[in-house]
Amino acid sequence: MKTIIATVCNTKGGVGKTTLTANIAGVLSEIGEKVLLVDADNQPSLSSYYEIDSAGHSQGLTELVQAENPENLVLEELSHPLATYPNIRVIVSNDDKGHIKNWIMERPYALLSFRDNLRKAKHDFDIILIDTHGGSDHLQNAAVLAADFLISPVIPDLASAREFGRGTMDMIKSLEYLKPIAPLGPINIVINGVDNTNDAKTYVKLITDETFTNSFGSARVIKPMLSKIVAYKEATTQSISAHEMNNRTKSEMIRVVSDLFPHLADKALSILKEPEYVH
Ligand SMILES: Nc1ncnc2c1ncn2[C@@H]1O[C@H](COP(=O)(O)OP(=O)(O)OP(=O)(O)O)[C@@H](O)[C@H]1O
Ligand SMILES: [Mg+2]
Repeated sequence: MKTIIATVCNTKGGVGKTTLTANIAGVLSEIGEKVLLVDADNQPSLSSYYEIDSAGHSQGLTELVQAENPENLVLEELSHPLATYPNIRVIVSNDDKGHIKNWIMERPYALLSFRDNLRKAKHDFDIILIDTHGGSDHLQNAAVLAADFLISPVIPDLASAREFGRGTMDMIKSLEYLKPIAPLGPINIVINGVDNTNDAKTYVKLITDETFTNSFGSARVIKPMLSKIVAYKEATTQSISAHEMNNRTKSEMIRVVSDLFPHLADKALSILKEPEYVH
């Protein structure tokens, strides 16, 4: 099967992009998928989310995006293995000065180099997940163009719903002129951080209402949602995938993954049904 490339994006900061990226990878890895994480944020949170084995080389995102002969790239060589999840490797963000976005801006066709290089490089990954930063610039645009589909976490509150409508959708619309050569994939909204407050209930209702998504063309809100619970934060601190924290995070993350990757739903849901304790 063809490798699937998904980019996690939302121009609003702090909505859970990196957390969601890492946790999707955790579930995919458990069901045997070979996953490549690409950290396209120059504040490299995803690069250090899980414990990586960084011995040996210092290559990363810069070499991926700027490669002139991508046919000679081998993504396994460009990426780092994780110490804890053998099915996941990471291309780290080695761009602390933010040079890549300028490099792209200065070159007419470089907006597509992220996409082209990922597709032309040799590798054995089933799924590639790209994490982006909160904001809009040429690197984030290139990461969006690289994807088969987009995953956008949105928090159910006023600021987040507004910013999705303005910032994220405006950014996506601004790339539509490239449709003939790099068609934009559909946008899957994942409501992240649901709690019991009336405010959250109001905004879940608003975001899931058809009139909200209809105004955004190809966007859809996936049914499974993620609760606002401390276990997601604790998983980050412990550098483990959230689905390993408790039954709730396991159930939520597996349902999100099953929805986003329907060809893997049976496999993913089967680990949900596994008994918690084997006597
Ligand atoms: N469902 C959740 N419940 C509780 N806390 C969460 C949840 N999702 C994310 N968080 C926490 O929210 C904070 C922001 O998450 P994260 O860093 O993933 O956001 P981001 O969108 O990647 O931010 P940035 O735009 O800065 O890259 C983190 O402390 C994370 O642990
Ligand atoms: Mg982040």
